[in-house]
Amino acid sequence: MTKEIILTGITTTGTPHLGNYVGAIKPAIAASKNANVTPFYFLADYHALIKCQEPDRVRRSSLEIAATWLALGLDTSNAVFYRQSDVPEIMELMWMLTCVASKGLMNRAHAYKAASAENEQSGESDLDKGINMGLFAYPILMAADILMFNAHKVPVGKDQIQHIEMARDIAGRFNHIYGEHFVLPEAVIDEHGATLSGMDGRKMSKSYNNTIPLFEPEKKLKKLINKIQTNSLEPGQAKDPETCTLFSIYKAFASADEVSEIRQRYAEGIAWGEMKSVLFEHINEHITPARERYEALLQAPEHIEQQLQEGALKARAVSIPFMKELRKAVGISRISL
Ligand code: TRP
Repeated sequence: MTKEIILTGITTTGTPHLGNYVGAIKPAIAASKNANVTPFYFLADYHALIKCQEPDRVRRSSLEIAATWLALGLDTSNAVFYRQSDVPEIMELMWMLTCVASKGLMNRAHAYKAASAENEQSGESDLDKGINMGLFAYPILMAADILMFNAHKVPVGKDQIQHIEMARDIAGRFNHIYGEHFVLPEAVIDEHGATLSGMDGRKMSKSYNNTIPLFEPEKKLKKLINKIQTNSLEPGQAKDPETCTLFSIYKAFASADEVSEIRQRYAEGIAWGEMKSVLFEHINEHITPARERYEALLQAPEHIEQQLQEGALKARAVSIPFMKELRKAVGISRISL
């Protein structure tokens, strides 16, 4: 039986936060334990260059993200865990795909459109101001990431669905021109997956600057939780859990029984200060063992590097022969042996 390939990438520009953990990392690690799938999880470091031109930050983020996945128990004997830049065939494939992708398709990409809409709103006459070609071509790099390993399923956030559609479109065009080489990937959106609220009540996201880092040291975690915005209801007044950031975060870390107990306490008018300490204790308890492993890993970067090197070997065992086939398909080969 050929195993199903699930693949996802994490751009190395930030520090993993509670929202990343609940929405993406935790389900991906759970999926990696299924013996019927081969997960390909990678650090999308070339993607990082699109929006981050601070080398130290890209380096630091790669280290933190890799350490996070390992600390949380990613099973690297089943999963292929690698760094995008260690697989140069991906870059080569990107060019082949660039030459079949239509420019009009890229014009319609959300990330590019959002950037040019921002220019328009600020009254800029050059709508492409500040937009680099990396941002414009970013869906093609993402298609190369996916098609290089003929992934069947790609778990992503809703904002990435369009990119998977584009990867399918590009794969279809390539197959039409050069023969069937690529599997058409499907996006997998976890509808049950929690979207966490951040410190200010909006979705927890790097772009809103409202995140709580996953492995924040205990004291800092407590401080951040204390800063989460709540309304001005007094202790003893009934409170609505559904519109409460504290509750939204608690829910993502608790069992059904625990959740209904807390719901009851909201009805009884739990004080915000009390709820904040309940939330802190709960998350802290949940995270402490992994945080200890994380800190140990940061002290042993050579161990992380070794895991990534092993992952790269496994990835290249696929990408090198596949690239040979693709080069031949497009007519790039030696003239004679
Ligand atoms: N662009 C994705 C994001 O911002 C990360 C990513 C890069 C990715 N390459 C990928 C996700 C390939 C899935 C498959 O979240």
